[in-house]
Amino acid sequence: MFFQSIGTAALAALTLASPTLSTQTFVNTGTLSGWSTQNIEDKGSIISVTNVVYNGTSALKMTQVYDSSWTGRFHSEKIKTQVYKLGDEGFYGFAFRLQENWQSTPAQSFNIGQFIADFTNTGCDDWMPSSMVWVIGDQLATRVKYGSICNQQLKEWKNLKTVTPGEWHTIVINANWQSDNTGYYHMWYDGEKVVNATNLPTMIDDSRAFDFHVGIYANGWHDDKGMKGTQSTREIWIDSVGIGTTFADADPTRIQG
Ligand SMILES: *[C@@H]1O[C@H](CO)[C@@H](O)[C@H](O)[C@H]1NC(C)=O
Ligand SMILES: *[C@@H]1O[C@H](CO)[C@@H](O)[C@H](O)[C@H]1NC(C)=O
Repeated sequence: MFFQSIGTAALAALTLASPTLSTQTFVNTGTLSGWSTQNIEDKGSIISVTNVVYNGTSALKMTQVYDSSWTGRFHSEKIKTQVYKLGDEGFYGFAFRLQENWQSTPAQSFNIGQFIADFTNTGCDDWMPSSMVWVIGDQLATRVKYGSICNQQLKEWKNLKTVTPGEWHTIVINANWQSDNTGYYHMWYDGEKVVNATNLPTMIDDSRAFDFHVGIYANGWHDDKGMKGTQSTREIWIDSVGIGTTFADADPTRIQG
């Protein structure tokens, strides 16, 4: 009887404690301030606008402009530093919109979100992105990276959904960042689950913290050594960015302002 009542009390305490504690560790409602830093290269720009918004009164407009004389990369990204490290779990979300006349053929890759850390000290890489979300042609894609910094392995998911330009879309990623088979990687697009991957490595075997970048990174212009097609100015709007411990913390449909 004594043990039974202790057991019941313990169970009641557990039940009370069991609802997931929600902690929103970052939120941005389309403002220039509030970020850790940014990366704007060559002719790129980032401004806050009020005429095109996902929610509330402002959104961020990120632009990149092709420049054949520029040998560097083409980033216009806002950055929240140190959002995860090996062993962490989290939710990461944002709303995005491609310019109405976005040219999708011939297909070239434009990254819209990425997790990245500086590995210069390893001698095997410099700034190394792990997971990325990108649009290639009119298709949405994402990936995870695993292995080691000197022996990087990729798992990619392509042709996930057709991305309609001129309309707002939402991304939420839920990852358990593990270098062995205990990781998971889930991604939702406009509220629909498009990646459901469990029991896989989602991270390289390194414990340093990764930063989160959103905006436009016209990686194709650099990686393909030139612009495909004729659209040399690319515009992406970003709004309702959230990071936290539950879906609701990162869900753009619930981030007001
Ligand atoms: C995700 O995958 C798991 C394991 O294969 C499966 O049980 C679950 O139903 C899937 N969920 C969705 C939304 O596809
Ligand atoms: C902003 O989000 C809130 C919460 O989801 C919603 O009630 C409101 O209608 C949204 N506002 C606009 C302009 O979409």
